[in-house]
Amino acid sequence: MTKPETTLFTPHSLQGLKLRNRIIRSATLEGLCGPDGQATEPLIDLYRQLAAGGCGLLISGISYIAEEGKLIPTGLGAATDEQLAGLAQLAAAVHQEGGILCLQLGHSGGQGHSRVCGRQPLAPSAIALAQYTELPQEMTLSEIEETVAAFAAAAERARQAGCDAVQLHAAHGYLINQFLSPLTNRRQDAYGGDLTGRSRFLLEIVSAVQQVVGKDFPLLVKLNGSDNLEGGLEIDESLTVAKMLDAAGIAAIEISSGTPASGSQTPIRLGHESGAEMAYNVVLSRVIKQQVNCPVIAVGGIRSLHVATGLLRTGQADYLSMCRPLIREPDLPNKLQSGSSDKSTCISCNGCLKTMLKGNFRCVVP
Ligand SMILES: Cc1cc2nc3c(=O)[nH]c(=O)nc-3n(C[C@H](O)[C@H](O)[C@H](O)COP(=O)(O)O)c2cc1C
Repeated sequence: MTKPETTLFTPHSLQGLKLRNRIIRSATLEGLCGPDGQATEPLIDLYRQLAAGGCGLLISGISYIAEEGKLIPTGLGAATDEQLAGLAQLAAAVHQEGGILCLQLGHSGGQGHSRVCGRQPLAPSAIALAQYTELPQEMTLSEIEETVAAFAAAAERARQAGCDAVQLHAAHGYLINQFLSPLTNRRQDAYGGDLTGRSRFLLEIVSAVQQVVGKDFPLLVKLNGSDNLEGGLEIDESLTVAKMLDAAGIAAIEISSGTPASGSQTPIRLGHESGAEMAYNVVLSRVIKQQVNCPVIAVGGIRSLHVATGLLRTGQADYLSMCRPLIREPDLPNKLQSGSSDKSTCISCNGCLKTMLKGNFRCVVP
């Protein structure tokens, strides 16, 4: 096996963060926390393993910014000061292994379940959709204001805990995505209507986070290039949102697509038996890459050194992000760098997703 090109493994600065390479562990909800949302030993061990495995940047699983935005009972919390200690342990474990930790912040919105989030799920509009398991409640203006403030407070907790960056989860049909999408946002007020209205919630969160943690603290956003749903967010509007985020000074944008209701085009697509790779969101991320100044992260179906280096060489992405391959092989970046492997053995079967929901997070393929 030949040694990989240096570009993928050349140390690089992302808004002051010294990344050892351009491989990112994309946000992965592990379901390894207690009901209090605190990081547990198994979660801390996993992050230590991932950092030792060589990722340039490690993005945590979605961390809820408020109890009412909690997605699963065993998710990581950034909603209260009590949860800060666990976040600090995670950051310390990653730093001990020379890694860099970005905490993903999110709110399940209408994709939440009342038995988990403790109330009727909140959403921009009270509409029944395949994407929602329950009819959500339309958020009042004061609930919107409180949620923006909760995102900022969670980002500040991440900073205080020693995390190196935060990422807003604005993709995959969760609350921020619900505001952006014309399918889920039918509001008639300043937070709905045209794209200026629908992007107001996200931009207010960006501004509130920047005010609290400072513009030097790296703020990343994961955005859907398309919801892959009829009537949902499409690439033209997504590109406009990306440009607004770029102008607001975010550190990087990760382009994904789909929601749980997007059929074969969900964010976590099933692979082919051949293990053939697809890099399936690049058709969207390359459009955005051409028109923004901030770095663009490609995610989804990236499995080989050949494809990763090709995306960098052709200027289609600045960073490559992987989820399922790192569940199977947390040390994949080291293997790719040493030349002992040139591709992931992940077959994108989504068995890991089922184990996460059952509290037994792992790759199921022998
Ligand atoms: C078990 C599991 C948990 C995930 N949790 C999150 C999450 O918390 N936040 C997020 O933005 N994406 C999450 N994703 C999606 C991944 O970050 C990624 O976008 C998707 O899996 C495609 O990348 P891949 O083909 O490399 O797996 C999750 C995926 C899996 C399989």
